Amino acid sequence: MVKIESPRIIVRRSGPLSGSVQVPGAKNSVLKLMAATLLAEGDYVLTNVPAITDVHTMAETLGALGVSSTWLGPHELSLTNSGNITPEVPFEKFDKMRASLNVLGPLLTHYGSARINWPGGDDFGGRPIDMHLRGLEAMGAEFETSADGIVGRCTRLVGAEVVFDFPSVGATENVLMAAVVADGVTTIRNAAREPEIADLCNMLRKMGCRIDGIGTATLTITGVIPSSLQAVTHEVVTDRVQSATYIAAVGMCGGTIRVARANAQHMGMMLTRFTDMGMIFDIDDDGITATAPDRLTSVDVSTLPYPGVATDYKPLVVAMLSMAHGVGIVTENLYPGRFRYVEELRALGANIEIDGHHAVVRGVEHLSGATVVAPDIRAGAALVVAGLAASGITEIGDVFHIDRGYDDIVGRLSALGASISRVRPES
Ligand code: EPU
Repeated sequence: MVKIESPRIIVRRSGPLSGSVQVPGAKNSVLKLMAATLLAEGDYVLTNVPAITDVHTMAETLGALGVSSTWLGPHELSLTNSGNITPEVPFEKFDKMRASLNVLGPLLTHYGSARINWPGGDDFGGRPIDMHLRGLEAMGAEFETSADGIVGRCTRLVGAEVVFDFPSVGATENVLMAAVVADGVTTIRNAAREPEIADLCNMLRKMGCRIDGIGTATLTITGVIPSSLQAVTHEVVTDRVQSATYIAAVGMCGGTIRVARANAQHMGMMLTRFTDMGMIFDIDDDGITATAPDRLTSVDVSTLPYPGVATDYKPLVVAMLSMAHGVGIVTENLYPGRFRYVEELRALGANIEIDGHHAVVRGVEHLSGATVVAPDIRAGAALVVAGLAASGITEIGDVFHIDRGYDDIVGRLSALGASISRVRPES
């Protein structure tokens, strides 16, 4: 008997899909909301929390800093900041994901120092943090960097005009969280506008922070004293990338599904591209009903910061185009190195050429199952989706990547009628 070394996802050709799936809260929101608890003492409750490993990693990181957390239910997390914070992240807690970088702004602004290690996260090639550091330096922070990590210090951060070269999600969040208790007014220009940032702003506002321009490219933050802030209960915004994943699945397999809680307003440009591919959407206040055509039609797609088509959707789009009618060109404008999964899709029979930051995808009529490896979170999900349309069996390894960002993708797709299972390692 073959020994299975690590969990795998096994997918068989499926479809048409039917039924309803409820999408949980967004990874890229909840991790930042959790970091915000460093800003003020008290008992917080986050609801609609996705059950993903990145949340556990962030909870461990916060635990090492002094914020404890307890699950109140499968999607409800309580966090307690009792005021006894050590602003130093131990290395072993910090090399797993990039979002831990989000503790830098809150720690510096509230505690006057922060020591963090170089952040991990998905490997898309270089992922610099110069904008984070420059933004905080403009407010008075000083940094020393070494091979071990980053040490930041300040007396009290002071409001400043911070202009980003590029609307970085993480840098916007770090400067925002630093500014809410800094001295005076901070203006962030060319701020990222992702719905997850608006979600963070909304929670900070509930805590007592003063933020104007939420959802726009200019955020104006008037610092308040930390003791005026209070702990709150907050519901995490729905995950737009998980929503798109189930839409991609029905696009590949055919059928009609209900994606409950999906927020169409947060997915505007992506839904337009999906519609161009032949999908039909019925949108209401509580979700999206998605119907697939017999065969998708190819389109060209470029990734851009919000409200453009997010880079996180791209592997799903490439998977969909791999079986669509025609040729689609997908251009990556954020992470030039984010094409590593293409080799895996080729193993299933996809016809994809990479030319610089463009992928030329020539739709084929059939994909065939193969043994592949998830190179990162979204690429792993794209391999799952592609496997649903491939003949035979697709076996996906390194599913820990998928677990970082997907809350029970296997259970949710099974509920839609997909043939998918998770094989656990032998004990
Ligand atoms: N960049 C810099 N300098 C910086 C910061 C960013 O050059 O100081 C560059 C990056 O190298 C990249 C671009 O700016 O080319 C965008 O990076 P951004 O800072 O916006 O991304 P991030 O905050 O590191 C978040 C998400 C990613 C998502 C990107 C873009 C989290 C935890 N991660 O990363 O999500 O792809 O925004 O939308 O929020 C995922 O969920 O799978 C994922 C990778």
